[in-house]
This record gives sequence, structure tokens and C-alpha cells, in this order.
Amino acid sequence: MRPARSWARRGLEQLCEFLRQFYGENLHMVEIGSYAGESTVMFANVARRIDAVDPWQCDFDPNDPCAHAAYSDVELAFTACTAMYPHIVKHKATSAEAVHHFANGSLDFVYIDGLHTYEGVREDIALWLPKIRPGGCIGGHDYRVYGICAAWTKGVSRAVDEALGTPTLIFPDASWVWMSQATAQEHDVLIRNWQRRLRFLCALALPGLLWQYNYARQFNRVRRLVLSDEQWRSLRSKNKKNPLQKP
Ligand SMILES: C[S@@+](CC[C@H](N)C(=O)[O-])C[C@H]1O[C@@H](n2cnc3c(N)ncnc32)[C@H](O)[C@@H]1O
Repeated sequence: MRPARSWARRGLEQLCEFLRQFYGENLHMVEIGSYAGESTVMFANVARRIDAVDPWQCDFDPNDPCAHAAYSDVELAFTACTAMYPHIVKHKATSAEAVHHFANGSLDFVYIDGLHTYEGVREDIALWLPKIRPGGCIGGHDYRVYGICAAWTKGVSRAVDEALGTPTLIFPDASWVWMSQATAQEHDVLIRNWQRRLRFLCALALPGLLWQYNYARQFNRVRRLVLSDEQWRSLRSKNKKNPLQKP
């Protein structure tokens, strides 16, 4: 379970936001390794359809610290968690078994978080890359992880680097996304459009900010001249003339 304000959650949220902006509401994706469905539900919020692939069998992955969990409970948690999402399609199968259900060039995105061995990730990339449509992208979890998890995720980074090179995007939760050069160019255009929109909004907001600043200065000047009734009376009685008048 990802704590609410952790980098683990924020990174996956950023990846979901990227997918939403890039693919709109038509995203069809596959998640390999869904475990209890937490990431599946986050993806489901931005996808038209998500196929969740997991054998839900314990001791499947020698590199995964969760591999000894009671998988019947994990599967129950997945079913409960995803019950409200009719567009999540469950595949109780390994990645290699499920891949045959998908036509080549049919998917927008595949997220690899199944086996965490070098051989496992290398095989997953080789199996699923042909399933991605032109303009789609492939990604996964646990790329270049530091600290205590570094040892068991080394194989993931090596397999990604060898098969694809450095990923195009890396998120704070160690999720990675790789796009072909043409797709990356499309992504650059999207980013440039957003930057242009942001600059336009800033330009619109600037006169308003200047006006507010000026108004605040005027207001402060007026406020300094406001006297309480008592101050006013005492000044009037002393000077018998308008205290605000310059001598
Ligand atoms: C680290 S967990 C996934 C966590 C999940 N994506 C999340 O972020 O909440 C890894 C999952 O991959 C599954 N798995 C292991 N080997 C697999 C394989 N060959 N194909 C598909 N899933 C696999 C495991 O059963 C486990 O549930």
C-alpha cells in the first residue's frame, strides 16, 4: 500500500497524468503484475480499458520481497479493489501466457511490473514490444532504484538499458517509459504546446497582478491617513484646523 503523500504514490500519479494527457480517454493498456490492484485502479482512472495480468501464485519471483505473500488473499484484495471498474479485464496468467490474447500493434501502453529478474524483464520487453501500436509506448517499474531495494532491482535496469537504452521518462517512484523517436517528438510537441499555453496565461495574468500591486499601494497610502474618531477629535481641539492639511 502506497502512503498517501509518498513519492511512490506521486510518481505513479505523474505517470497516470502523462498517459491521460498523451492518450486522452482512449488509452488501452496492459499491466503485467497487478498484485492487490492498487496500481491497476490508478491506471483504470485514466484508461478506457486495462488488462491486468498476474498468475497470483506465491514464490513466483525470486527477486520480489512480496513473493511469499498469501496470494489467495492478494487475489481477493484485487477482486474487491477492482470490482467497481468494469473496464479492468483480469487475466490470471503469466505474462508469456497472456501475450497471445493481444494482436500486434494493438496497445497504447504496456506497464511491466511482473518478474523482477534480468531474464524476466528482458523476456517481457521482447514479448510485449511488438504489441504496441505506432505512437504507443512501453514502461514499467523499479528502474534504477537506490537504497535497500537496489540489489533486487539491478536486473530490471540492466534489461531495460540493454533492450531499449535509457528510458525517455523516469518518474520519482522509479517507473520508466520508453518511446520510439517519432513518439518522443510527438511528446515534445505536446510539452511545447503546454509551455506556450502557460506563457500565454502568465502574459494574461501580468497586467492584473500589476494593477493589484498598484491598488494595494494606493490603499496603504489611504489607510495611513485614516484616524480614529478620538485621534481626530484631539487633533481638532489642539489645532482647530484639519490635521491632514500640510502646514
Ligand atoms: C511488485 S508486484 C506488482 C505490484 C503492483 N504493480 C503495484 O504497483 O501495486 C509483482 C507482481 O507480479 C506478479 N508476477 C510475477 N511473475 C509474473 C509473470 N511472469 N507474469 C505476470 N505477473 C507476474 C506477481 O504475482 C506479483 O503480484
